[in-house]
Amino acid sequence: MRKNIVAGNWKMNLKRDEGLDLINDVINLLPSDNKVEVVFAPSFIHLYKVNKMCLNLDKVNTASQNVSKEERGAFTGEISAEIIRSANVKYTIIGHSERREYFKETNEDLKQKVDVSLENNLEVIFCCGESLDQREEEVHFNWIKIQISESLFHLSSDDFRKIIIAYEPIWAIGTGVTASSDQAEEIHKFIREIIAQKYGDEIANNTSILYGGSCNPTNARDIFSKDNIDGGLIGGASLNAESFVEIIKSF
Ligand code: 13P
Repeated sequence: MRKNIVAGNWKMNLKRDEGLDLINDVINLLPSDNKVEVVFAPSFIHLYKVNKMCLNLDKVNTASQNVSKEERGAFTGEISAEIIRSANVKYTIIGHSERREYFKETNEDLKQKVDVSLENNLEVIFCCGESLDQREEEVHFNWIKIQISESLFHLSSDDFRKIIIAYEPIWAIGTGVTASSDQAEEIHKFIREIIAQKYGDEIANNTSILYGGSCNPTNARDIFSKDNIDGGLIGGASLNAESFVEIIKSF
């Protein structure tokens, strides 16, 4: 079902006490009539505790920032979908541009991560997005289509329903430069169209597509007002309870 989601990707930030304080502060500041699904994506080591703190709260869930493409076994340092799911975590983020760039994750790797996640009942927040060079060369539409089709379009319709897309233009991540709401809407609309071509209108209209990249309390309302933008994947501004909750309240 298409829902509005605001997810906080903490990346490699916040020590244990800082993270737990942040969760408590966000929970205290959340409006009682909150209609948005809130997702916290802390470091793996905090995930179990954060999830326990959120367990009895309505519309508050957790995500891992990454997942192994392997099912299980001798892969020192990796964390599998079944281990993540065994801590009752609902989502995993897959394909963040930082994973693609710094850890050389390919579309094929991400496809395997998607498959092993869904097999273990872990729903997927799948990231895509172009670099500044690609936008300037006007290959960004095609690039995003390749990212999505090579990692997701082998899925059955039923499995595709468990996918959330996050469009995160690399040039807007952590830079303070946000895509304008019109630029973001143009890509979100395109993503919904390619999903419709593959899976039909009903599934496309029910897919949540989030925007990420320097989203903050000042620009969130404008971005979220667009027809095809169903929420945000927030980095820096999710590390502060007031700014994260302001973004949540922007719907
Ligand atoms: P910023 O909000 O810090 O630009 O990060 C966006 C992001 O990468 C979320 O996954």
